[in-house]
Amino acid sequence: MSARLRPPESARATALAHPNIALIKYWGNRDPYWRWPANGSFSFNLDGLWTRTTVHFRAELEQDVLWLHRRRVTGEGLRRVQRVLDAVREQAGFTWKAEVISENNFPMAAGIASSASAFAALAVAAAAAAGLRLREPELSRLARLGSGSAARSVPGGYVEWRVGAHEADSFAYTFAPAEHWALADCIAIVQETPKAIGSSAGHNLAETSPLQAARVADTPRRLALVRHAVQTRDFELLAQVVEQDTHLMHAVMQTSTPPLLYWTPASVRVMQHVRAWRGQGQPVAYTLDAGPNVHVLCPADDAANVATALAEVPGVQRVLIARVGGPARLLPPEQALSPKGPAASEG
Ligand code: PMV
Repeated sequence: MSARLRPPESARATALAHPNIALIKYWGNRDPYWRWPANGSFSFNLDGLWTRTTVHFRAELEQDVLWLHRRRVTGEGLRRVQRVLDAVREQAGFTWKAEVISENNFPMAAGIASSASAFAALAVAAAAAAGLRLREPELSRLARLGSGSAARSVPGGYVEWRVGAHEADSFAYTFAPAEHWALADCIAIVQETPKAIGSSAGHNLAETSPLQAARVADTPRRLALVRHAVQTRDFELLAQVVEQDTHLMHAVMQTSTPPLLYWTPASVRVMQHVRAWRGQGQPVAYTLDAGPNVHVLCPADDAANVATALAEVPGVQRVLIARVGGPARLLPPEQALSPKGPAASEG
């Protein structure tokens, strides 16, 4: 088969992807270059929050160009995008550079995984723009090269990302569709500024904690419990495992060299309230990513009441509500973004 030297005529595509919240966290890599994870993880996608990305391969471009919220991005942000673009170009057999235009409808870099939705949308858009017809596991693996958790934003609903026997075998799949269990994530925002240490740097510190080996060794047990809790819609079991898992990850973070402490007093206050509410019979559970904001899980029917209660906890600035979301998907050409165009509305 001869490699194509140029992309197809219409080398532009647009995709939308949701961030996800991990119920079992990914923290640390077996191989950082490939983002081959130290342990398996499990998440659900967050409906209503999204990244929308247009990729346009163009013959006249001398370099890749990245626009995020109509601002030009260079440096590390661009290099991570190029990792995905290069993998696409290699598979498609051409060298054209790309213009990438992206925007989110939620706050970035504050413990809501904007990199997950960003790289999932990028992988789906770039593959389509290059004329590649990739299956979901291949798209998940492609997204993973930009950000590990992005592997989980490609499939829809409740998603497991398996470690795999080797890096090429490490991708995410749908464990149960979104409709299987109507849960919601009420995200208590206690801080909107970007965190000091991003997760890419954090993953590299995981091995410096004496607790990481124990956390990784115990992950198959926690994954089995979460699968069972989701399968049987057992909220109490889910709450126990999810909170234990987040504490294990933060214990590793807090005992790394240098230590990472993402919690603020407001984060701890929210956690204490959630524990108290559950003690009174309310089905709620918390989890925190690499940031201070607290994701409070509950049945979707309770989300409005839970959000109202969370908004009253001192230090909570606002609360976002997201139900379980679908997969990353291509959008029609008329929804393409342009660098100077108007900000996108709901996709
Ligand atoms: O995909 P990354 O490199 O942003 O890592 C995500 C790490 C956590 O959000 C803390 C956990 C997870 O599994 O999403």
